[in-house]
Amino acid sequence: MADATRPLLQVDAVVTGYGKKLILNGITLSVGQGEIVALIGHNGAGKSTLLRTIFGLQPLWEGKLFFDGQSLKSAKPRDLLHMGIAYVPQGNRVFTDLTVRENLAIGGITLENKKLLHEGITRALILFPVLRERLKQRAATLSGGQKQMLALANAIVLSPRFLLLDEPSLGLAPPLVTAALSRIQQLNRDGGLTVLIVEQKVREVLNICQRVCCLKLGKVTYDGSPEPLKSDPDKLRQVFL
Ligand SMILES: Nc1ncnc2c1ncn2[C@@H]1O[C@H](COP(=O)(O)OP(=O)(O)O)[C@@H](O)[C@H]1O
Ligand SMILES: [Mg+2]
Repeated sequence: MADATRPLLQVDAVVTGYGKKLILNGITLSVGQGEIVALIGHNGAGKSTLLRTIFGLQPLWEGKLFFDGQSLKSAKPRDLLHMGIAYVPQGNRVFTDLTVRENLAIGGITLENKKLLHEGITRALILFPVLRERLKQRAATLSGGQKQMLALANAIVLSPRFLLLDEPSLGLAPPLVTAALSRIQQLNRDGGLTVLIVEQKVREVLNICQRVCCLKLGKVTYDGSPEPLKSDPDKLRQVFL
C-alpha cells in the first residue's frame, strides 16, 4: 500500500546548478513508501538535474536529501545502490557492444557473489522474458523498446526499493510507451517498488502515478493528486507552462 505519510525520499530546499548557473532554486518534495510520484515540467526545467543530484552525480549546493531518514549528504552512487536506490538515466543507456547478459551482470555490479548475481538476473528475466531469448545477443541488435527494457532490467537486478527513472518512454512508439509505463506500475503494485519518474508523456504518466510534482524555472509549481490535472486541461496547461 502506498503510504505518503512515511517519506522514503525527502528532498529539502535543494539548490544546485552548473558552473555559476543556478538551475534548481530550492526544491522540496517527498516520495512516500510505495508511491509512484511523477515529475513533470517543460524541457530544461531541471528534472534530470534533480534526479542526478539525488543519485549523487551532481553536487548539492544547498539543502538536504534523506533516504529512509538517513542523510544522503556526500553519498556516492555506489553507496546509494547499496541502500537500495537504482537510477535509470535518460536515453535508455545500455552498453551496446556488450551482450544482454553482460549488461545485466554490470547492473548487478555491487552484488558480492555469483549466486546473488545469478538470482538477480533470473528475477529480472522473469519480469522481462523477451530478454531471456536474447541473452547472448549484443545490445546493439535490440530494438529501442527492448533497449529500454534492458535498461530497466539492469536496474532491477539489484532488487531496489526505490527507482529513479528519467523519461523511460523517450524514443518509444506510442503502444510501447503504454507498455513500458504499465510495467513500471506492475513493479510498484506487485513488488512494492517506490518510484520517482520523470516523464514527458504527461497524460500517460498521470494515469499510473499517485502524486505529481511539476517543476518550472527551478521551483515546484504543483505537488498533489494527478486527478485535477487529468480532468482539467486548463489547469494542466497552467502548472506546466
Ligand atoms: N552538464 C550541463 N552543463 C551545463 N548546463 C547543463 C548541463 N546539463 C543540463 N544543463 C542545463 O540545465 C538546465 C536543466 O536541464 P535538465 O535538468 O536536463 O532539464 P530537463 O531534464 O527538465 O529537461 C537546462 O537549461 C540545461 O541546458
Ligand atoms: Mg531531462
